Parts: sequence; C-alpha cells; structure tokens
Amino acid sequence: MIPVGPADRFDAFRALADRRGRPGRRLFESLAEARAGTTDSPGTWAPAVAADVGLPAAAALGPAGYYADLASPHGRRHVRVCAGTACFAAQAGQHLTEVEYELGVSVGLASPDGETSLQAVHCLGYCYAGPAALDGGTPHAGPALAGQLAGREPRRAPAIPAADDTGDPVLLGGVVAGELPWQVWPQVVTTGTPDEVQREVAASGLRGRGGAGFRVASKWEAADRAPGTVVLANGDEGDPGSYADRLLMEVEPERVLEGLALACFACGARQGVILVRSEYPLALARMREAVGQAYDDGHFGRSVHATNTSLEVEVVAGGGSYVAGEETALIASLEGDRGCARPRPPYPTGHGLWGAPTVVNNVETLASVPWIIARGGETYA
Ligand SMILES: Cc1cc2nc3c(=O)[nH]c(=O)nc-3n(C[C@H](O)[C@H](O)[C@H](O)COP(=O)(O)O)c2cc1C
Ligand code: FES
Repeated sequence: MIPVGPADRFDAFRALADRRGRPGRRLFESLAEARAGTTDSPGTWAPAVAADVGLPAAAALGPAGYYADLASPHGRRHVRVCAGTACFAAQAGQHLTEVEYELGVSVGLASPDGETSLQAVHCLGYCYAGPAALDGGTPHAGPALAGQLAGREPRRAPAIPAADDTGDPVLLGGVVAGELPWQVWPQVVTTGTPDEVQREVAASGLRGRGGAGFRVASKWEAADRAPGTVVLANGDEGDPGSYADRLLMEVEPERVLEGLALACFACGARQGVILVRSEYPLALARMREAVGQAYDDGHFGRSVHATNTSLEVEVVAGGGSYVAGEETALIASLEGDRGCARPRPPYPTGHGLWGAPTVVNNVETLASVPWIIARGGETYA
C-alpha cells in the first residue's frame, strides 16, 4: 500500500480515510446527493453521510461547510448568480439586487417554502456576455438577466467567440478548422515510446497554462515514471475573465483527452483524472461524454488499441471552491477533504494523490500536446 504521508508530517484525515478504504470521491458525491434539495444546514445531514463510509462526523462536516456548492442551501430550484469581476463590472453589481428581487430570495439563502435558492458564484465562463447566471444547469447571460430568469425575456447564452489567424492553430484546430481528434494517440500508443513523447515535449519548451508557466517536461520528468503515477487534468479555471478552458472542454474535449493520454503515456501513468468545475455543467457533460466515447473507441481501458498499455480515465466535478484549483488543494479535494492547500515540499510529483506520484497539468497545457507530437517539438518552439 502507498504510504499516506511523509514520515515527518502526519495527516490524520488522510490516514483515517486510507484505513476506511479511501472513500474520497464517494464521500463527496454522497454529500452532494444529501445536499440536493435540502435547505437544512450541513449539521443535519452530513454526519450520517460520514457514518455511512465509516468516518467520524468531522470528516463530512469539514467539506460540507467548506465547498460553496455543499454549504449553500438548495431549494427545488437552485440558481447560481455570478458575482465575479466581469459580471460585477457589467452593471456595477445591480444585477444581483435585481435577481434577488425577481426570485424573492437573498443571495446565500432559500425561500421559506424551500422552492427557490440563490447562490453567488464567482465566474460561470460567460464574462464576455455578462452578467450571467445558471438556473439549475441552464445558463443565462446578458443585461436583462432577472427578466430572463423570470421568463419575461428570451434566454441568452451566446457561444464563446473563437478565431485563429495563424493558419495552423495549436489549440483551436478542432474548434475553428474542423480538424479531427484522435489522430495522434492511436499511432503513438502502438508504435511510439514514452521517451519519444517526453523528448518532443521537452524540445517544444511547452510551459504550463495553469498560471505558473512551469516547464511541462521538467514536471513529467520529476514524476520519474514511478509505479502508481497519476495524471490530473486541471479544469477548475476559477479566474474571473477566463473561459479558454471552458471553450476547450465544451467544444473539443477530445483534444484535452488526447493530450491527457499522451501525458499518461510519457509519465508511465495508468490513471488519469479530469477535474471540471461545477460552474461549467456543459463542460462536465461534454467531457464525460467524450470519455465514454474514448473508451468505446479503444483509446482508453485495458490494452489500449491492443497494446500492453492500460489507461483508466474519469471525470470528477468540483465543489465550488476557487482555492481547490491549486494543485495540492485539488488533490485534497479528490481525497474527500476540504480543498485547502498543503505545504510543499513534498511536491505532488513525489507525493500526491493518496501519496502516489502525481502530475497536475492544466487542461489547456494538455491540449497542446497532440499538436506538438504531430508536428514535432522544434516546430512548436
Ligand atoms: C489559488 C490557486 C488557484 C489555482 N487555480 C487553478 C485553476 O483553476 N486551474 C489550473 O489549471 N491551475 C490553477 N492553479 C495552478 C495549479 O496549482 C497548478 O500549478 C497547475 O494546475 C499546473 O498545471 P500547468 O503546469 O499545466 O500550468 C491555481 C493555483 C493557485 C495558487
Ligand atoms: S465573471 Fe461572471 S461569468 Fe465570468
């Protein structure tokens, strides 16, 4: 069994959860189920969820109070309204008051009859057309937001404007140029080697798009193809004003998945996980659909394309936490804990998800990899 913490730092939650069979996502998903449709505070329903997976009440009360999606009351109709910078700037915050008035409920509360609840969120990826809201999973955006939610105005949710004038788009090939996905992975997995992928990515000089611009090849190298390595695709995109990851995950999820497959191959990982923020319900659905299709087409699973390579990939939903986009917080959230950052070192590449070597890359970073392998690292550089 993989050790659950470095010898000099004991993590009680991790250690206990490890002994209880690592309920991790199961705990989170059960909490989300228990939260759906109740306006009661976590104290009334979270302890029972913890007991079900053999953990003390605190192990469920912690995440249930931490993640905005679990902490905020849910009426039968749950509306998330964006209070992020771009939406706030669009109407100086007036839309929040208008939506509260229209729905008859204040932000952060539910109506007394439990019919409607209103949650403030910080970016829904419609910053270019704000202010924005999600009614259940249905997006609305534009000046007459309250009227749209009331059904008086036609619903608006314009698509992300995307264009490329390079003639050979790296990320937008499938979005604006009709390029077909999965042109690289089948050939690489059948006739290529992990070293070749690693070499091309190193030659490309590709740097991470998650914020820090860290060299991708160096991060992959640090994981050292150790047994049990996991690759996490970070689709949390919490910064208000960014919707590049939403575009990729909604319109061409296959490019992200192909990049993830190549990253797993280069890192010797047999497990890939994609975290998609809950504020992007369509991206979640599209990513899940694309993963299912990839299994059907033999890109994932046991003996990928009749080779010795196995690769299991799953999509998980975030819980409405900006901080949980940080890599160690992301790992904590996948383990079922609150999404709080853990001190580094140890770095995730040495000691990540449940102690396993873990490579965390942004989804846009990964989506660059198929182009690099197809055209060569030097060309990209
Ligand atoms: C508070 C905070 C939030 C972050 N949120 C994200 C995020 O939403 N998406 C992301 O890819 N990286 C985010 N990061 C950066 C990640 O910790 C990590 O560096 C990144 O996912 C690595 O991918 P890359 O090397 O491909 O850039 C965040 C960092 C901090 C400190
Ligand atoms: S800031 Fe509101 S949708 Fe991005």
